[in-house]
Amino acid sequence: MQTYKIALLPGDGAGKEVTDEAVKVLKAVGQKYGIEFEFEKALIGGCAYEEYKTPLPDVTLNIAKSADAVLLGAVGDWKYDKLPPEVRPERALLGIRKELNLFANLRPATVYPELTSLSPLKEEVVSGTDIMIIRELTGDVYFGTPKGIEIRNGEKYGFNNMCYYESEIRRIAHVAFKVASQRNKKVCCVDKANVLDVSRLFREIVEEVSKDYPETELSNMYVDNAAMQIIRNPKQFDVILTGNIFGDILSDEASMLSGSLGLLPSASLSDGKYAMYEPIHGSAPDLKGMNVVNPIATILSAAMMLKYSFNLNEMHDDIVNAVRKVLKDGYRTKDIEQKGMETVGTDKMGNLICGNILGI
Ligand code: IPM
Ligand code: MG
Repeated sequence: MQTYKIALLPGDGAGKEVTDEAVKVLKAVGQKYGIEFEFEKALIGGCAYEEYKTPLPDVTLNIAKSADAVLLGAVGDWKYDKLPPEVRPERALLGIRKELNLFANLRPATVYPELTSLSPLKEEVVSGTDIMIIRELTGDVYFGTPKGIEIRNGEKYGFNNMCYYESEIRRIAHVAFKVASQRNKKVCCVDKANVLDVSRLFREIVEEVSKDYPETELSNMYVDNAAMQIIRNPKQFDVILTGNIFGDILSDEASMLSGSLGLLPSASLSDGKYAMYEPIHGSAPDLKGMNVVNPIATILSAAMMLKYSFNLNEMHDDIVNAVRKVLKDGYRTKDIEQKGMETVGTDKMGNLICGNILGI
């Protein structure tokens, strides 16, 4: 039997609950298609800090590197807010992205027809929205040097460096055009080229790469305008290609189109060797252990793993269809609660999706 090894990093807060459900779903779909998934667990984030005094211990990195793919829950808890920046749980995320060279972050913002009324925007504005944000994940002002806080001219001075090598831009641009070629063949490059030199280079290289993909239409948009257009007319977008910090901000914004952070998955890919899949929501420490968080984002992240790491497209579609069927049948978790629908717990939502996959 074909076997895939998955590094399972539940992380903090509600991370365990949501990854438990994704594991159930992977097992169910594996059973149906005769594929085996083996899970190796490791600590990341605050729980790793408690055990090893670092949020990203080597043992976790090694398990992640030796697996076929990584499934992550979420990291962070308010109780770690006072820790020095280098050992805060978020550092583990940045660290694992860099160590595994996960430069391409795919964040789909899909509005399910079953849930359009949940969006804070008007139904006619959001219905049918299907955006794929491709965010560069290992460069930009997140990792640029020099950086720091020091004394200059007798006062404190803080600085970071927003920078990209053309090779970093080129490889993320190729990912965006390849993804677009499987979708509606439109890439919108989002930058701040009217002000920033680094953005001018970003735009120039993306335009150059676009020549390899003549069937795909490239447009450019300044990030401030893009932030406005995502709300005004989200349906105009297919693939949005952008750098690390703009992608961080725009992906949170776009997630709200769907009505709940609890629905949205993500994939972080490298040049083929490593890949990590995680929900875009945080660890929701206040909801930990209460059986109320929505496992759908993590379940859909597992589905993305099947598609992007293992090429198991039919199994991916099976999971997505099962999720949609459960929503259509009127089941909701607390975050997407609706009048006339049945609100169920985290585990029941997972079980319903498994039941749908297995036809029971
Ligand atoms: C995200 C998060 C992270 C980021 C934080 C937690 C470091 O906001 O994945 O979008 O800024 O990339
Ligand atoms: Mg973010």
